[in-house]
Amino acid sequence: MRYCGAIFDLDGVIADTAKYHYLAWKRLADELGLYFDEKINERLKGIGRLESLEIILQENGRYFSRREKEYYANKKNEYYVEMIRRITPKDLLPGVADLISNLKDLGVKLAVASASKNAPAVLKNLGLVEWFDYIVDAGQIKKGKPDPEIFLVAARNIGVKPRECVGFEDSVAGIAALKAAGMFAVGVGDEKRLKDADLVVKDLTPTEQILKLFL
Ligand code: BG6
Ligand code: MG
Repeated sequence: MRYCGAIFDLDGVIADTAKYHYLAWKRLADELGLYFDEKINERLKGIGRLESLEIILQENGRYFSRREKEYYANKKNEYYVEMIRRITPKDLLPGVADLISNLKDLGVKLAVASASKNAPAVLKNLGLVEWFDYIVDAGQIKKGKPDPEIFLVAARNIGVKPRECVGFEDSVAGIAALKAAGMFAVGVGDEKRLKDADLVVKDLTPTEQILKLFL
């Protein structure tokens, strides 16, 4: 199969920002006396802001009103925004620049599909905005990952059929969304955790192996 569209998740695939999401949640959790660790954090990957807070509260057997949840989710975002202000192209994950420029040379249509409302700002700081034919962030969709909506919107806007798209994801929810969208799913990260992907790579450095999908 020769694929002709590539759709990238942002946090943890293109940029090393997953660690900042973790640090911002950790800071908030410590302030609120809530338990939070890397294991709980895995469940938040690809998941929207408010829903992430709900997972942390649920893990701690705590209940917040809607207004409290909005207030604290917003606070976490302030910590996160402060951390990503200093992002530069140096924060690109290994292999990203090389892969994207090779895909562009092949005429592959490129999109970003991110659950983060901060995606446009991060892409701007990374100097990547012009590289993509379309960018979908959480502000444009109704249902988050694992629902396929975000990837289907991306495919439609780059004019490529879902079954002709390859998606790149570091989250379990994102892989489920890609499979539900009928796309080829490349998991970026741990093989065991991303076992439902069609191919798993530790990062995007195996350029040749990935490019084969598009030749
Ligand atoms: C995803 C991250 O990309 O965006 C999640 O994997 C994060 O960890 C989600 O919660 C929402 O991000 P934001 O920036 O809108 O709070
Ligand atoms: Mg991610």
